Order: sequence, then C-alpha cells, then structure tokens
Amino acid sequence: MTKHITKKALIELKNIQKVYSKIDMETHALRDINMAIYEGDYISISGPSGCGKSTLLSILGLLDTPSDGSYLINGQQVANLTADDRAEIRNLHIGFIFQAFNLIDEISVYDNVALPLKYREPKLSAKVVHEQVMDSLEKVEMQHRCTHKPNQLSGGQQQRIAIARALVGKPSILLVDEPTGNLDSKNGDLVMALLDDLNKEGTTICMVTHDPRYADHAKIKLNLLDGIILENLSLNNALDSSLENNLQEAV
Ligand SMILES: Nc1ncnc2c1ncn2[C@@H]1O[C@H](COP(=O)(O)OP(=O)(O)OP(=O)(O)O)[C@@H](O)[C@H]1O
Ligand SMILES: [Mg+2]
Repeated sequence: MTKHITKKALIELKNIQKVYSKIDMETHALRDINMAIYEGDYISISGPSGCGKSTLLSILGLLDTPSDGSYLINGQQVANLTADDRAEIRNLHIGFIFQAFNLIDEISVYDNVALPLKYREPKLSAKVVHEQVMDSLEKVEMQHRCTHKPNQLSGGQQQRIAIARALVGKPSILLVDEPTGNLDSKNGDLVMALLDDLNKEGTTICMVTHDPRYADHAKIKLNLLDGIILENLSLNNALDSSLENNLQEAV
C-alpha cells in the first residue's frame, strides 16, 4: 500500500522583524525573515558577527519575541500566548545548546541532564526521569560520568552533556548556537560528528556556526547579512527534500 505522508513544517517564520530600541537608537537586528523548518532538516545559519544569528536562534527557540511577523510551531501561532504557555511549548518542543555549555557546576551531570524534566506537568515519575536521563547520556556516550560535576569534565565532554540535556525531553528540534565555539578542533569535530549522527537518526537541527567547514555538514545552508537571509534556500530546499521524502515513501 502506498504510504502518503505530507510533511508539516515544524516551525514557520513569516516576515519576522526584530528591532532593539534604546532611548537614543534603534538596532534592526532582523528584517523580514521568512523560513520554514521541516521534520528531519539539518540547517546551518552563518554570517558575520552582529548579523543577527543569535537573535534569530533566540526567536526560533522562544527565548525572545519578534517585534513583528508571525511564528508558528506545529501550526500553532505563538504570538498570542502568555509567557507561561510559551515556556511550556519551549520545554516540550525545543532543545537549546549554547556555545558556553551553560551547565550548573554545583550539581551532578545526571541532575544537569534531568533539569528540563523537572518542569514537566504532569510530573514524571522518578523511573521515567531515570530512563530518559540515562538514555540521553548514552546517546552522547557519557553515562559513565553521570556522578561527576560538569567542571570535572573536559570542554568536549561538557558540550556532550549539554547536548544530552537538550535531548532529554525528546524535543521536536535542537537549536544549536556555535556548538564548537569553545572547543579545540578535535573536540569540535567530535561534537559535530555527534550532531550529524543525531540528524541521521531523525533529529531536526538548526545550528548557528561561524565555521564554513561545519556549516557544510548541514543540508540547508542559510547566510545572514545585516538581518536578512541572503539566499532563501530554506523554503525551496525544504520543499524539495520534503517532496523527495514523499516520493521515496510513495515507492
Ligand atoms: N539586547 C540587545 N540590545 C540591543 N541590541 C542588541 C541586543 N542583542 C543584540 N543586539 C544587536 O543586534 C544585532 C545582532 O546581534 P546578534 O547577537 O544576533 O549577532 P550574531 O550574528 O549572533 O553575532 P556573533 O557572531 O558575534 O555572535 C547586533 O548589531 C547587536 O549589537
Ligand atoms: Mg551570536
């Protein structure tokens, strides 16, 4: 029987603007951003310092709100939601990986990874939390360090823990800001290989990177300049790859 699946956009941005206003000046960080992220995509966002990459990622991750435009996640418009509802959507759907790892040194690796699950309503049982944390640590091959504190680990290991923390809630998408920025090239390559594997297994990834070698790992490459996407390959490529997937599934 023919399996007919039409891929839905996980996230759609339409005419997104971001203006930072100060008393004496305005900074137009993003201008008219249109893009869509589909299930299974691997997108890189590159561009010079100050072009709006982190701003765009923060908006995608519901950490910041646009000044104008529309943002849909799983078809749901987020503009009219309360901050609490946005936080819940973020917790359920989005795994965020920061350049500076952002781990808490006072608690164990295990507790760091378990942290996003603490905010789940209804509460998850200790057994489910344990399974998900160990599962996630296994994916990044760090289960043997679960009782360590983050500052007892190497930079590459810390970034792998940060990836495990982002994965633990089984998010719809991983948003990654300069994952290799604080790593030497060997550890950077290892982290990138891990992200590549996760995408091959089906994880949707949108990553900001300065490094053209790492941007090349992505299937869709976006270039930002002064808050504008230079070539909007996102929609076309995503539609092409979605069409390709549909054709593959149909045969
Ligand atoms: N909170 C803020 N208030 C005012 N302006 C800001 C704020 N955050 C960012 N900007 C400005 O918005 C523009 C885009 O910043 P953004 O951090 O998105 O750049 P970026 O591409 O991530 O740069 P980098 O590669 O250096 O990390 C910059 O001109 C920056 O100065
Ligand atoms: Mg940045």
